[in-house]
Amino acid sequence: MAPEPVAIRHAEPADVQAVLRLLRETVEAIPDAWYTPLQRESWKALFTEDALAGLLQRQAQPQGLTHALVVEDASRMMAFACLAGDEVKMLYVHPSAQGTGLGGQLLTQLETEARRRGVSRLRLRASANALGFYKGRGYARDLGNASSATGSTSCDCGGQVLCTWLAKTL
Ligand SMILES: CC(C)(COP(=O)(O)OP(=O)(O)OC[C@H]1O[C@@H](n2cnc3c(N)ncnc32)[C@H](O)[C@@H]1OP(=O)(O)O)[C@@H](O)C(=O)NCCC(=O)NCCS
Repeated sequence: MAPEPVAIRHAEPADVQAVLRLLRETVEAIPDAWYTPLQRESWKALFTEDALAGLLQRQAQPQGLTHALVVEDASRMMAFACLAGDEVKMLYVHPSAQGTGLGGQLLTQLETEARRRGVSRLRLRASANALGFYKGRGYARDLGNASSATGSTSCDCGGQVLCTWLAKTL
């Protein structure tokens, strides 16, 4: 069955606090089987108000390279996704909404926007828990990326958290 359509809008600078809360709660809920509590603490520590505010300010600029989207319901921010250049920088769906198709819808929108901007190959750093999700959407190990020789790399959003470079031809 097709997922329920949701209202996706551009992120705004005023969303910083709600998005920070979403990011922290989402990482906190990732099972220990994927990342230990210590690794999740390291991951969450990278979500600073300054970094996120800078990102949302850049996206507010007319010629900004960043394209950031949010989904919220009446009580909370449910999802956040961000494209920067040829890279999906962040994609987070609150645990209470995971598995409902939200992540897929956001990724599709970022891919559409990337195509519109002339990107032919979209890259991202996938955390271990999200590898299956991305592979199911056509992403594969990015052998063109030097760091993928080791199979993993540190994640922008994840500090010491190991991620894998993936890419998809659009
Ligand atoms: C990864 C994430 C964005 C996916 O969002 P979502 O809204 O749950 O995804 P959807 O409901 O659109 O899609 C779920 C699909 O992915 C699959 N999937 C999700 N995690 C998976 C995994 N670890 N292994 C295999 N498949 C997985 C589901 O089986 C489902 O498949 P289907 O579409 O064929 O039924 C979300 O789980 C999340 O925010 N995780 C925590 C934060 C994170 O790791 N973000 C990525 C940072 S790189």
